[in-house]
Amino acid sequence: MKSVRVSLREKSYEILVGRGILRDAASYLKKKNFERRHALIVTQKEVAVHHEGALRQSLSRHGFETRLFLTPNAKSSESAKSPAVYWRLIRDLAACDGEGKSVFLVALGGGVIGDLTGFAASVYRRGIPYVQVPTTLTAQVDSAIGGKTALDLPEGKNLLGTIYQPALVLCDTQLLSTLPDRHWSDGFAEVIKYGLIGDAALFAILEKHGKEGIRSDASLLEKVVCRSAAIKAKVVEKDEFDKKGVRIVLNLGHTAGHALEAATRFSNRYTHGEAIAIGMLVACQISRRLGCLKDTALPERLEKTLLKFELPLFYKGCSLESLLKAIGYDKKSVGGRNRFVLPVSMGRVTVVRDVPDEVIKEALEKRRG
Ligand SMILES: NC(=O)c1ccc[n+]([C@@H]2O[C@H](COP(=O)([O-])OP(=O)(O)OC[C@H]3O[C@@H](n4cnc5c(N)ncnc54)[C@H](O)[C@@H]3O)[C@@H](O)[C@H]2O)c1
Ligand SMILES: [Zn+2]
Repeated sequence: MKSVRVSLREKSYEILVGRGILRDAASYLKKKNFERRHALIVTQKEVAVHHEGALRQSLSRHGFETRLFLTPNAKSSESAKSPAVYWRLIRDLAACDGEGKSVFLVALGGGVIGDLTGFAASVYRRGIPYVQVPTTLTAQVDSAIGGKTALDLPEGKNLLGTIYQPALVLCDTQLLSTLPDRHWSDGFAEVIKYGLIGDAALFAILEKHGKEGIRSDASLLEKVVCRSAAIKAKVVEKDEFDKKGVRIVLNLGHTAGHALEAATRFSNRYTHGEAIAIGMLVACQISRRLGCLKDTALPERLEKTLLKFELPLFYKGCSLESLLKAIGYDKKSVGGRNRFVLPVSMGRVTVVRDVPDEVIKEALEKRRG
């Protein structure tokens, strides 16, 4: 097992990464002197069928009482991040609490469950502890770390939210074995991003082994998850509340990526990871055009690596105009000015504001399939 510490003074916590560590979840909680004995486990049916038993067993064996909150069945997983589901959760929580128990929450699931659970934990009684047990690659390397919590509104995604750190993050890589294939690629897009923004050696591992090579090798997978988590942790430590402009580097590929997701109306055409794969290539092109790209071999290495993870290099199914319009509305643009994270060399990026429209347009045109 490996461990990464997120150092945030009294809010510091560990991210534990290892195969099969869920079995020992309770003993890690005990080591943290976790005093609360009643766990409300928040999860989804797709996850519960495979993994809820092992978690409950571990907790019960060590004297924790457990209850389950299952999000309602729905076509899209994202619909669990709604005020209605949140309300049901908080009422369940209050009912447990009302019996005189000191409750904590456990998020057993992907980013959707993590965001919902973190939000509920942050507001109930002005904050109760929660533990992240991420079950997707995206959640293990990204959403379970850093304390951003969120709910969606009909007007837009993630409009309600808080920043509230978990007490512990348990990344059991074995949980990923039941993950549908497309979700693996989705998560790997974020891992590739970490290589580009801060870890040339991580990129080299990805480049060498590809998707199959990594997911079929337990120790390599553990290493890749751990290095990714460490990069996210470092960034979060420097800018916990996303106020200092440091966390922005995590948005490499996300400006054009979000535009692609918005222009295709968050349909199933592109997963988030697929959209940011194209977004990272758009960022490379802009970087080259603005003279920021020092390592000119980087875009080709990125293309080859994306292919090894079954990620797309070109988009189709939406117009250039709709993409440009969506970039104008991107939340990462401040006061109407756009902001792009651009690769400089492997492991190094820069942030550029006010990229001229024609440069963006040209870069997007090059990626049209
Ligand atoms: N808080 C943050 O910092 C942050 C960062 C990135 C993304 N997010 C949020 O995360 C969400 C996306 O998260 P995601 O990509 O993990 O998707 P997700 O949570 O929707 O999970 C994807 C699907 O896989 C299923 N699933 C999860 N784990 C499984 C497993 N081990 N086996 C089988 N099926 C499994 C889920 O039930 C779901 O249907 C978005 O809402 C996004 O806004 C938050
Ligand atoms: Zn992302």
